[in-house]
Amino acid sequence: MFDKENTMTTTITKNQKQISMFREFREENKEESFLKLISSEYKKIEALRVLDKIDWDFKDFTTQYLSHKFHSYPARFIPQIPLSFIKLFTKERDTFLDPMCGCGSALVEAFLNNRKSIGNDFNPLAALITKVKTTLIPSSKFEHLEKKMLRLKRYLDLDYRRVEERANNLPNRTVSKIFNKAVIGKLEAIREMILELRDEKHYKLYDFGRVALSSVIWSLVENGNGLDVDNAFIRKVQIMKKEILAMATVVSSPPAVKVICKDARKLEIENNSIDLIVTSPPYVNALDYYRAHMYNMLWLGMDFDFFRKHEIGGHSHFIINRFRLLSEYLGDMLRSMIEMNRVLKKSKICTIVVGNSSLEYELIESYKYFSSFAGDIGFKCLKTIFRNIDKTRKYTSADIGQIDDEYIVVLEKVSDSKINAEDDDFIAQEVNKQMEAFKEQIRRNPGTSIRGRRPTKERLLRNVDKISEALETIKKDTKIKE
Ligand SMILES: C[S@@+](CC[C@H](N)C(=O)[O-])C[C@H]1O[C@@H](n2cnc3c(N)ncnc32)[C@H](O)[C@@H]1O
Repeated sequence: MFDKENTMTTTITKNQKQISMFREFREENKEESFLKLISSEYKKIEALRVLDKIDWDFKDFTTQYLSHKFHSYPARFIPQIPLSFIKLFTKERDTFLDPMCGCGSALVEAFLNNRKSIGNDFNPLAALITKVKTTLIPSSKFEHLEKKMLRLKRYLDLDYRRVEERANNLPNRTVSKIFNKAVIGKLEAIREMILELRDEKHYKLYDFGRVALSSVIWSLVENGNGLDVDNAFIRKVQIMKKEILAMATVVSSPPAVKVICKDARKLEIENNSIDLIVTSPPYVNALDYYRAHMYNMLWLGMDFDFFRKHEIGGHSHFIINRFRLLSEYLGDMLRSMIEMNRVLKKSKICTIVVGNSSLEYELIESYKYFSSFAGDIGFKCLKTIFRNIDKTRKYTSADIGQIDDEYIVVLEKVSDSKINAEDDDFIAQEVNKQMEAFKEQIRRNPGTSIRGRRPTKERLLRNVDKISEALETIKKDTKIKE
């Protein structure tokens, strides 16, 4: 008998299959045509035109491959952003720089494409992750670590003397509760095993193990209790090993990579030595990296308090008047941009990727400030590209959830900056100009970033007084804290 229902089901399934195959085909093509577009050789003027042809949202693109899989990091790059600039504006063996490199997404792309690179970040965890993601380790070297991991189970049965000490040292926060005694015991055992690698002078494996441990701690902080810590660590090492070995097949002769853990406002890099900069600085009042990584740093023996003092864009201070954060941020970013100009070769490209943020109901359009600084410090703003952020993906974090879009500011170095990054008077003067303009803008149109209940007009206008107050302390707020 003719089974109508069954036939229909088959037809639908077939169609669905075809649709999904077509989708796959289409997506593949999207990525392929993007790669083809950026891989041809262009003169600079043509490369700038190619930027207009790229769909910067990179929706559904594969972004988690090779060492990009090693460690989560808040507000990291979609690899295709730095990749586009690296391919279009440098040639093999040129030197690339990301002065606030975070977990090194841009450096991985430079590495895979045979460009020398320098990554700088004042967060010691960021510097460690970047180094490990761009360091190849031969397969034979892993045997030592694997043998140790086999013995790990035995370690775990030991009664850990240091559990009490570690438990007492945890910061006094709710999240500390996830580190119960059993978890602490396991993490301590793994940490001791990793420390042995350092004592045995297996430095690459030591760093590799620390990143794997840090990634497990991140999962604990993000997902709470219940993680099978030792097995999660072993699994992580296996995944990382597989990816680093795969990378060795892509990069036959690894280009030089230098990772520096210093302040972007005082780069320890030679003048006029860099062929391309692509970076994404922190956003003002959005996320404290020191807070996000506090537990990781604690376990890895890093000083998160030192980084807290020098972090750009942090918001753990100026609680009474948040607009002072903006003065401080603008001063810090201006100094960093002067440093970018100093190290970049003339006529080369410097790209800064940043999102808008929000401060006391007001929209902070950082990209406009950066473009406005550019002309005074030897840069020319060539274009600003807008892109939507896919908030369903892991590249943003819950803490910076207000950010929906991003701007890619493309600058060209036209001359050496006449201003030095240590010129406190110039910095204060420029920030003063911007803050005065901001105050005027708010006086005319208050409440440019209101989410949820609308505050009263009086409340919004009180911001004008607060900015006036912040203007009084600019000189002090823009000075680098020692
Ligand atoms: C938006 S994240 C960069 C993410 C990076 N693009 C990636 O793909 O991982 C901004 C970085 O600026 C770093 N940073 C903050 N203050 C700094 C400073 N004074 N000097 C250098 N880096 C700093 C933070 O540690 C953070 O890693």
